[in-house]
Amino acid sequence: MVRASVKVGSAKLVVICVGLLGFALIADFLWASSSSPSSSSFSVFDSKASTIIVPTKEKNKKEKEKEKKNGSSSSSGRLLADAYADLAGPQLNWEKMETSPVPRLDGAAIQIRNRLFVFAGYGTIDLVHSHVDIYNFDDGTWGGRFDMPKEMAHSHLGMVTDGRYIYIVTGQYGPQCRGPTARNFVLDTETKQWKDLPSLPVPRYAPATQLWRGRLHVMGGSKENRHTPGLEHWSLAVKDGKALEKEWRSEIPIPRGGPHRACVVANDRLYVIGGQEGDFMAKPGSPIFKCSRRMEVVYTDVYMLDDEMKWKTLPPMPKPNSHIEFAWALVNNSIVIVGGTTEKHPETKKMVLNGEVLQFNLNTLKWSVIGKLPYRVKTTLVGFWKGWLYFTSGQRDKGPDDPSPKKVIGDMWRTKLKLNE
Ligand SMILES: *[C@@H]1O[C@H](CO)[C@@H](O)[C@H](O)[C@H]1NC(C)=O
Ligand SMILES: *[C@@H]1O[C@H](CO)[C@@H](O)[C@H](O)[C@H]1NC(C)=O
Repeated sequence: MVRASVKVGSAKLVVICVGLLGFALIADFLWASSSSPSSSSFSVFDSKASTIIVPTKEKNKKEKEKEKKNGSSSSSGRLLADAYADLAGPQLNWEKMETSPVPRLDGAAIQIRNRLFVFAGYGTIDLVHSHVDIYNFDDGTWGGRFDMPKEMAHSHLGMVTDGRYIYIVTGQYGPQCRGPTARNFVLDTETKQWKDLPSLPVPRYAPATQLWRGRLHVMGGSKENRHTPGLEHWSLAVKDGKALEKEWRSEIPIPRGGPHRACVVANDRLYVIGGQEGDFMAKPGSPIFKCSRRMEVVYTDVYMLDDEMKWKTLPPMPKPNSHIEFAWALVNNSIVIVGGTTEKHPETKKMVLNGEVLQFNLNTLKWSVIGKLPYRVKTTLVGFWKGWLYFTSGQRDKGPDDPSPKKVIGDMWRTKLKLNE
């Protein structure tokens, strides 16, 4: 779709240019992290204005040949435009609903029938939430706030439900760029009681998490420094909110590690979608674990596990997409994904948010853009109820002309969902 106009013969050129740009970026980040104070001040929350590069039209063959020889970074920038540009899609009618009691970034959400349980998240980079808010789709109100256990992580959690119990796995403990915990919990949503689950073998940051065939599966994510991708995959037998085993079992590692992916079970198959390698990490020696930006690469990957228990690769997303852990809903055998982040801007190096609603049809294995959001947004929390697609929270863009992240939000929106065949 995105690359529809790029000829097959140019695939090599893309590889060469991306390779060269890779070197340029590494050099740039080494420079940025050692000499620029602004680059270490969590630019996700505080990023300067940037200009948008409008993708240029198809160049003629001669120009392309020349660029191939030179491998200049400006030509790479143009080619990479595909990876961060907004995608065309139908405008949707969005209705603004009641705003959540607190704004939150990197929180988690689980829908159980008409209720969306919304957990944790940053309010600001120095303040993390340690409670649950509940949105009721039937009457469109927020309420029912209750506390999380003190030892539970505050952001970047893995989370899944069986329809009553919510299993909560690891995640980042504390504000700024502190590391993850190995502690896991289970919530009985009927009694609001919390219980412990056996800890993971090691802490993990933002791993892909699902319930599949009676086992809680946890895979990928980052290691304790938030940045280094973990490939490990563990599972634990669970039933009715209880672990049936004392220890996690090692499973087949995921082909690529890293955080911020959507993980979905449908038709008895497990899907892991998008995500990235690398993330912000704590500045060495900082007593407050001050966030400092590091190299990130965002992916279009779609991996699947089935009976064979071997990872299979499915058609990629229309563009790289990360920060979508709880930004999806499963509707009529399609996975619907809202917003996210894509590759950084090739010139400003700023994070670029996505503003599309995507559909991955599991019957046809086709991706399509089914609509545009009111703004670009990442780590948003999604629900689907009686024909309406809802999203709330996350971090939105600076404005229509600037896709870099700015305000942490609690807005709630909905639109009538229309899927493609
Ligand atoms: C490639 O490099 C040559 C020599 O440095 C220069 O003359 C030419 O304009 C460059 N071409 C492009 C497309 O950048
Ligand atoms: C899902 O399928 C049902 C039954 O075919 C249909 O009535 C409904 O409109 C579909 N939902 C969406 C969002 O397309």
